Amino acid sequence: MLDHARNQLLTQVGPGTPMGGLLRRYWMPIAAVSEFEKTNVKPVRLLGEDLTLYRDLSGTFGLVGRLCPHRRADLSYGFVEAHGLRCNYHGWLFEETGRCTAQPYEDAAAPEACFRDKIRIQAYPAATLAGLVWAYLGPQPAPLVPNWEPFCWKNGFVQIVFADVPCNWFQCQENSIDPVHFEWMHANWSMRLRDQTGPYAPRHLKLEFDEFDYGFQYRRIREGMNESDPMWTVGRVCLWPNALFTGDHFEWRVPVDDENTLSVTWAFSRVPKESEPYVQERIPAWHGPVKDPATGRWISSHIMNQDFVAWVGQGTIADRSQEHLATSDRGILLLRKRLLSELDALARGEDPKGTIRDAAINQCVPLPVAERKLLIEGLPLEELARHPVLGRQLLDGYPFQAGQPAEVRAAYEAAMGIGHTANA
Ligand code: FES
Ligand SMILES: [Fe+2]
Repeated sequence: MLDHARNQLLTQVGPGTPMGGLLRRYWMPIAAVSEFEKTNVKPVRLLGEDLTLYRDLSGTFGLVGRLCPHRRADLSYGFVEAHGLRCNYHGWLFEETGRCTAQPYEDAAAPEACFRDKIRIQAYPAATLAGLVWAYLGPQPAPLVPNWEPFCWKNGFVQIVFADVPCNWFQCQENSIDPVHFEWMHANWSMRLRDQTGPYAPRHLKLEFDEFDYGFQYRRIREGMNESDPMWTVGRVCLWPNALFTGDHFEWRVPVDDENTLSVTWAFSRVPKESEPYVQERIPAWHGPVKDPATGRWISSHIMNQDFVAWVGQGTIADRSQEHLATSDRGILLLRKRLLSELDALARGEDPKGTIRDAAINQCVPLPVAERKLLIEGLPLEELARHPVLGRQLLDGYPFQAGQPAEVRAAYEAAMGIGHTANA
């Protein structure tokens, strides 16, 4: 259990808070590039700040404050120009550095005053990588946007999936280092939701957690497994500071504010050998619902929706003074301890854990990947369909989140070289 003060320390993310300061040292995925095919401007809220993300007519992304410095109009209703974002109220124009580059009336009536030179809007760096738009809200110099190993893999179909989860980011991230929940929340609960009563999935018998530069590996032995199994030799990754990495997908828990989290999944599906070479022209993105409108209850049919049920169920901000941690929660303790010690390191002026500043390392940053060989080299379609992890969405549809649009399924099937499937 955690006292109230330390619970606040871990969960508050707004400007001026210690954890908000730590999280601001990392690039956060906040949108997908393909979202900007339909719109140029999008309101975003990140780490308790209301912002406006835009792509101007030259293709440059900018991330600026939500309100215009003139008379506070909402810039997410602004429109883009060749260079920058223009407020729809009186036409002031801002560029991605925060400079005001035009004030149409002042420029005509009082050009000698150069009032626009005295005006700036809050602006943060935005970058694109792997089909995602990333934001950095910390001090300069910014670290590099991590070029994780799967972003460099070839012959993959990638999709980006969002969900708005109405609870604090940290209880979502604690789930990234909680192996036993797979057995109960996903395997066994799913089986019971299908109205079956057994048999239950093999039990977890042994867990290990190892820290490395970019997070923690968690490893497991379940009934019937031996110690040569990749789930014991490699395991999965709780990626620092706010993601889960399972080899073929990332799940970021992006703090919107103290009470809301944007779930961002980047999922890589290796195409079968028969479909090589495959080059993806466009990475689709979609936004899945979290509640069933018919019942008002949380959706529980898909893996991440089940996780969302756990996260929001813990309360908007979980009260960790009331919990009873057991030996299964060793990873959670390690995660909390490391976050708290990183707050101290940051206060001492040190560069926080896992920030990458070396371009040579960032060519392609390796991570522990249990199925690396298969993900890189691929499998024939028939074998892929039988693979318990990598073949999951081939026949039965996307298993991770409810609401995949038909056009994304169609693009996936075209990439995989399969016809339309019955139970998508
Ligand atoms: S309020 Fe934005 S230009 Fe006037
Ligand atoms: Fe889960």
